[in-house]
Amino acid sequence: MTADDRRAAVLCGIGAWVPPRVVTNDDLVQRLNTTDEWIRARTGIRERRVIEPGMSTCTLAVEAGTRALKSSGDAVVDLVIVATTTPDHPCPSTAPEVAHRLGLTGVPAFDLNAVCAGFVYALATAAGHIAAGSAERVLVIGADAFTTMLNPNDRTTAAIFGDGAGAVVLRAGTADEPGALGPFDLGSDGSNADLLIVPAGGSEQRGSGLPVDPADLHFRMDGQPVFRNAVMRMSESAGKVLERAGWRIEDVDRFACHQANARILSAVARNLAVEQDRVVMNVDRVGNTVAASIPLVLADAAATGDIAPGHRILITSFGAGLSWGSTVLTWPEVEIG
Ligand code: COA
Repeated sequence: MTADDRRAAVLCGIGAWVPPRVVTNDDLVQRLNTTDEWIRARTGIRERRVIEPGMSTCTLAVEAGTRALKSSGDAVVDLVIVATTTPDHPCPSTAPEVAHRLGLTGVPAFDLNAVCAGFVYALATAAGHIAAGSAERVLVIGADAFTTMLNPNDRTTAAIFGDGAGAVVLRAGTADEPGALGPFDLGSDGSNADLLIVPAGGSEQRGSGLPVDPADLHFRMDGQPVFRNAVMRMSESAGKVLERAGWRIEDVDRFACHQANARILSAVARNLAVEQDRVVMNVDRVGNTVAASIPLVLADAAATGDIAPGHRILITSFGAGLSWGSTVLTWPEVEIG
């Protein structure tokens, strides 16, 4: 078997959804004692989408999943993976309910939590199932209602995140086809877990038997070291995956970097020597949507034609954990669901 014959996961459907409620920077000014200028200058974010009462991560995932299945032209898959840090409940995982609501009851379904790197981890996991022959078609969803984890009065986090979901369908194919994913680079650094953390609500705090400080149920972030780690890890990981793929940076037509913050994106692109017009971006409109970030920006850019069939795409992501991951693909002929 030559390299080009080998079985690979091929992207054949994509869809995304954000809730209709828009929260602009001006909407946050009073509560956070901030300004539109401050938020734009430090993050590049103008507005974000936020769920309304009655919605949850499952709602977002089902909307995106429906669109991705439609885009793929076939409503049937044999595995569903939901990358999320904000499951509807601590137990059970959200994926079985998502699968059920998509008419896929009985199909194996599980959640995967690698925070903002979750979608790339989920792609790698799905690609592994396809390569091993344990799945022919996989629905991979990145969905987060991360605003539900925030302290609405914490100005260091409340301006940055938004809610949303994106999804792709992967089918078994060969590595030389447009849409074939991989290679991958994945990594983690648990020594820096405290940099982005929800301290309470998990087994460590519950097992302690100590009373919960309600503030510890919210996400907190040490912004400056996170910034430095994000730039370093995504630059390194993107470099490694390019090397594994045998691509030079000049071969990359579009760079899809985790939409954390416009300054982080610019710094990673500068490190990699990718000009700004090759960087796809929607962080200004949706903020950091955690596991949804990569599929949302891919779907947005493909919908406007900024990403087109034949484009060679470099994807890299970074988040709490710390966790990071990168991959590449050549964009296939695919309708956006
Ligand atoms: N509006 C106004 N002032 C704010 C603010 C806001 N929304 N958020 C923080 N500040 C203030 C701080 O309170 C601090 O005030 P002080 O000097 O009086 O204490 C001041 O701005 C500087 O804070 P600092 O944290 O040094 O700002 P910064 O230049 O590092 O910018 C971030 C803050 C969060 C924008 C920046 O660190 C960042 O982008 N980090 C990465 C975040 C990220 O992408 N996380 C997700 C990774 S997946």
